[in-house]
This record gives sequence, structure tokens and C-alpha cells, in this order.
Amino acid sequence: MKPVIAVVNGPNLGRLGRREPAIYGNRSWEEIWQRLVLDFPEVELEYFQSNHEGALLDYIETLADRGMVGLVINPGALAHQSYALRDCLKALGVSMVEVHLSNVHARESFRSTSLISPVVTGQIVGFGPAGYRLAVQALLDRLEAP
Ligand code: DQA
Repeated sequence: MKPVIAVVNGPNLGRLGRREPAIYGNRSWEEIWQRLVLDFPEVELEYFQSNHEGALLDYIETLADRGMVGLVINPGALAHQSYALRDCLKALGVSMVEVHLSNVHARESFRSTSLISPVVTGQIVGFGPAGYRLAVQALLDRLEAP
């Protein structure tokens, strides 16, 4: 059976390709996702995006019960403001990678603080869409050699 990894995008990430392309690039999520699925035929990837914090929490809290082995999450601005997301992730009990397309440390100062970084396994920032690929690969490597 293939390992199942969830990929979650938070608020405002449904409009990639159209949203501030100078910062987030020209590629739509559909393009990024298709490429990601092609890159990892050995993994079952499941995608969820919402602009609503509660909907994200409702989805994420089911992941361990549904047998997911890892989570890749770009929380968008919730990284900087959501203690609820942090608590949800802390309780999850699977390996997690926090991804940000942009280099959050090179932007406004409020973006340098991520409330979820202390509770995830690791963080990849500033590599654009490649961050999702690096994150899935990191989770797979960890599965092989925890
Ligand atoms: C982001 C960075 C966040 O600060 C911002 O609020 C986003 C996107 C990124 O991928 O670079 O929505 O998570």
C-alpha cells in the first residue's frame, strides 16, 4: 500500500498564479499539484485548501485517524496568527513540514514569526513551488530512516 501524505494550503493560496505573481510566481496551484503528483508516483497525495481556519482544523484533525503518515502545510498568514492551528498540529502525531513559497524572513517583520514552527518537524521557505516537492521528499526520507 502506498503511504498517504496530505498537502494543505491555507487562506489565499487558492489563487496562486493570479495573486501577487511577483512574490508567489506565475504558476497556478493546478500546475504545481499536477507536477507534484507526477514526481511522486510511489505516494498517494491528498490535497485540501481552505480560506477558513475552522475548516482547516476539521480536516487536519482527521489525518492521523485516516492513516496519513505525513503532512505538508502552507498555512499562509495563519502561521503568524493562529494558536488554534498550532494546537491542532501539536496534537496530530505525524511528521509535518511547514512550507512558505516566499522567503518570509526577507519580508515584513510580522512574517518572520511562525507560531507553528516549534510544533512541526521542519520548515522550508523561499523556494517557491519546489518547496512542496522538497517537503514531500523530506517526509519520505524520514519514513525510511526516522
Ligand atoms: C506564504 C507567506 C505568508 O506570510 C502569507 O501570508 C501567505 C503565503 C508563502 O507561501 O510565502 O499567504 O505562506
